[in-house]
Amino acid sequence: MLNKVKLYLKGASKLYNKEIITSGDYAKEYDKVASTYNLWLAEMGKFTDKIIKPEYYNEEKRLKILDFACGTGYITKKLLEKEIDCEITAVDISAKMLEQFKEVVGSEVRIINQDGMKFLENTEEKFDLVFCGWALPYFNQKELIKQFKRVLYKKGLACVIVNSQGTLQGIEEIFLKVMEKNQQEVNKFMDIRFHLPKGTEGLEKWFKNQNFATVKISEEENNFAFDTPEELFEWLTKTGAIAGTAQIFQDFEKVKDDIIAEIKKKKYENGKYVINHKFASGIFQRS
Ligand SMILES: C[S@@+](CC[C@H](N)C(=O)[O-])C[C@H]1O[C@@H](n2cnc3c(N)ncnc32)[C@H](O)[C@@H]1O
Repeated sequence: MLNKVKLYLKGASKLYNKEIITSGDYAKEYDKVASTYNLWLAEMGKFTDKIIKPEYYNEEKRLKILDFACGTGYITKKLLEKEIDCEITAVDISAKMLEQFKEVVGSEVRIINQDGMKFLENTEEKFDLVFCGWALPYFNQKELIKQFKRVLYKKGLACVIVNSQGTLQGIEEIFLKVMEKNQQEVNKFMDIRFHLPKGTEGLEKWFKNQNFATVKISEEENNFAFDTPEELFEWLTKTGAIAGTAQIFQDFEKVKDDIIAEIKKKKYENGKYVINHKFASGIFQRS
């Protein structure tokens, strides 16, 4: 009990002093994930496809598209496959994610290695479409959607897929338990949970507040089951599903076994170690 109180006091002080995971930390984490991120795409890419819907695009002009926090370029590649007449700008903070991207596209895509928010704040360009796949919680959602509105042409579309509240059930508790046990290792806190929408209702509200109209919206959940806690841990770390969490600790290697032990205790269901991914997606029009 005393340990828990100590951790919460430490957490409150770190949050107050803004000793939290930063965009630079996410860049480092995604640099590490870059070579295995395809594991995520192989299972979850099909859900991203639901925000790539040419039937909603204006076919009368060459479209200017922003692939925001583009990672290894899944969305851009899908758009190119569909042979849409367009010019794409793709921005991401992780140089290593972009290296994977550059290997498969040519000069038709302008790739920019920069903090996404800095790019948005400084650009005078306008776009017909902005895509944001699995990255919205790394930003202050209000500021981000305000910037999407600023850079979109009138009637332009913001196409988003994002983890929602209730995703990775139990993982936050597991990390808190490990942090409580290894307080001397705790470096920073993470505030990502405050940036997850409350399902479709929450996502729609965020966009509606910035005068976007909803074109299409949905919510889904996908479960993955593994034979061992180590395999579940690998899925979480190699896909980027818990990107950023390693930076909570001074030395992640030191707490790895404790995390796996907690997964073993808390994530066992019907003979398997199970994890859920809950997410919302939507297409919103700037009115
Ligand atoms: C889960 S990946 C999604 C990649 C891609 N959009 C997709 O759908 O596959 C999240 C991406 O957000 C990027 N990211 C995180 N914080 C960022 C920031 N501040 N600016 C730009 N990109 C950022 C990461 O580097 C990573 O490539």
